[in-house]
Amino acid sequence: MEHADPSRRRGPRQSADGRVEVAFTVNGTAERLRVDPRTTLLDALRERLELTGTKKGCDRGQCGACTVHVDGRRVLSCLTILAAVDGREVTTVEGLATGGRLHPVQRAFIECDGLQCGFCTPGQIMSAVAVLREGSAGTDAEIREAMSGNVCRCGAYPNIVEAVKQARS
Ligand code: FES
Ligand code: FES
Repeated sequence: MEHADPSRRRGPRQSADGRVEVAFTVNGTAERLRVDPRTTLLDALRERLELTGTKKGCDRGQCGACTVHVDGRRVLSCLTILAAVDGREVTTVEGLATGGRLHPVQRAFIECDGLQCGFCTPGQIMSAVAVLREGSAGTDAEIREAMSGNVCRCGAYPNIVEAVKQARS
């Protein structure tokens, strides 16, 4: 996968005030932010870039609501320090649709009723896209295992599994 600016892979720069400047790509758009070095990717997405599709559930790596892709691999953005994505490509749920068309996984979640309140859904969808890409969604049990880091308090699991299977076919 191409990086927006490979020359930046030496790491973020730190300024005299202790902030770090991080350059990365989000959904194909180059971004450059000066932040406290403790800033998480999740907070940068939601509070600096206003990409609020990525949800903050537990903020401690236990629910999966904050799942995004970094260089095509799923990560928990609440546990990812923004500086760690310097020079990398981030994809959020807002970046899945192309040319005005929803991603097949997004369509499958709608058609299979793979949601109730919808709070966990962006994270579920980002995980499902990665799971399908990894080829780790053979049986229902494999789908459940691969998606086990994404908690749904509404218990929409049966329909989530159906959505993953529909998107796979
Ligand atoms: S908000 Fe990141 S795992 Fe819950
Ligand atoms: S749809 Fe409500 S938490 Fe999953």
